[in-house]
Amino acid sequence: DFDTEIDLALFGALGDLSQRKLYPALYQLDREGLLDEGTRLLGVARQEVDAEGFRSKVEAALKCHVKAEEMDRAVVKRFLARLDYCQLDATQPEGYAAIREWRQAGSSRPLVVYLAVGASLYGDICRHLEASGSLDARSRVVVEKPIGFDLVSSREVNDAIGAVFPESRIYRIDHYLGKETVQNLIALRFANPLFGTQWNQNHISHVEITVAEKVGIEGRWGYFDKAGQLRDMVQNHLLQLVCLIAMDPPANLDADAIRDEKVKVLKALKPFTDDMLGRDVVRGQYIAGTSDGQSVPGYLEEDDANTDSHTETFVAMKTGVSNWRWAGVPFYLRTGKRMPAKMSQIVIHFRQQPHYIFDPDQRALAANKLVIRLQPEEGIALEVLTKDSGLDKGMRLRKGPLHLDFNSAFAKSRIPDAYERLLLEVMKGQQYLFVRRDEVEHAWRWCDSLIAAWQDDQAPRRYPAGSWGPVASIAMITQDGRSWYEDY
Ligand code: BG6
Repeated sequence: DFDTEIDLALFGALGDLSQRKLYPALYQLDREGLLDEGTRLLGVARQEVDAEGFRSKVEAALKCHVKAEEMDRAVVKRFLARLDYCQLDATQPEGYAAIREWRQAGSSRPLVVYLAVGASLYGDICRHLEASGSLDARSRVVVEKPIGFDLVSSREVNDAIGAVFPESRIYRIDHYLGKETVQNLIALRFANPLFGTQWNQNHISHVEITVAEKVGIEGRWGYFDKAGQLRDMVQNHLLQLVCLIAMDPPANLDADAIRDEKVKVLKALKPFTDDMLGRDVVRGQYIAGTSDGQSVPGYLEEDDANTDSHTETFVAMKTGVSNWRWAGVPFYLRTGKRMPAKMSQIVIHFRQQPHYIFDPDQRALAANKLVIRLQPEEGIALEVLTKDSGLDKGMRLRKGPLHLDFNSAFAKSRIPDAYERLLLEVMKGQQYLFVRRDEVEHAWRWCDSLIAAWQDDQAPRRYPAGSWGPVASIAMITQDGRSWYEDY
């Protein structure tokens, strides 16, 4: 019963996410001819502005966040003509009649409600929408992370949404799942027998995931300080990457077949215990340093900062998936703000040959690595060993990459932003790129084990802005005789 022609009511229509991501993504869909002719959008927010004023703000957002060469005047005009605006205090029931009326004005299309607002408002909004008669059995809701800040609060949020929408009509966004390269993990693993047969503890020694950000807090101190990097990035994005790397092959590509397999991974994640804290987890907070050669303030000197905050802006950890496939294979994860570069990558380290016949000095070289670069410069490289060329080299080995660079390989097609894909899937009613309730809750359960263990270990380690994190995060991996992959 799904139809790609929809009425979209966007709460938080003047917020940062809408302006930076959602309007540009919808515009791109329109440009690609993927927005049905009848699709309309109602911006909902607290601010007092009329429909014309709203359209100008959206146009300004497009100018700011869409590349000039991708701005097409005719498409902009067509896109803006789809927009309307509704001023509303989301916590009060009164204004919701306007949404019902907007729907009744000639639309038989399903309503998609997008909540680009804090999770504390989700319950009120869902209830008021229902009470006002704005919903019907085809309505869908899209919600942003974070869903709560621990298991208990996430259940409350999920219950409140679930009281109005069935799970099959709830689309929980983790925008990493919309990234082309993240989806490629599924293709890479399950379409290539070469990798499919090697993907287990017999052949893989360890897995490394780095999601480094160059940015600091960017005016979001109030939100971020309550969350920290574990809740903001690991609970969702990094764990989703772990799931896609570690899951067993699903029976097919159906949403639930994939999500069932992901949940099994989340359930098998090794929980944290107090004795692992000093050894297997490093929390960091950046102090003043440099970014692109410019001096930048430390986390505690940012605007609105509270000077004794112990919130982490970096976390590194060693964990694992306790099951048959992954027994004994460490997963090293790290993510932080104010690192030297924006770079997300997964490195699969394969085991060495059981019997080694080359120069003993080169033994350390002798293991293949599969480097999956999620952003920027999306691509996949397989590090292989060949004979070094030259008459005087004997059987010296040399490392070299077999490299697939997505930008040059698929140069004709633009790599779409994650939100374009996700919005399109919502319109199509496909849930496989969205997070199911049990995934969110199992992810929180695991994070809670770490947060509980952290209670007595309040002070994070310092690292200068523009560095790869506290030195302890390097020691964490070198104590196992390994190192973070540094070929970037
Ligand atoms: C968001 C986090 O979910 O992801 C931000 O809240 C973070 O703190 C962002 O900066 C990173 O996303 P991307 O797509 O830029 O890697």
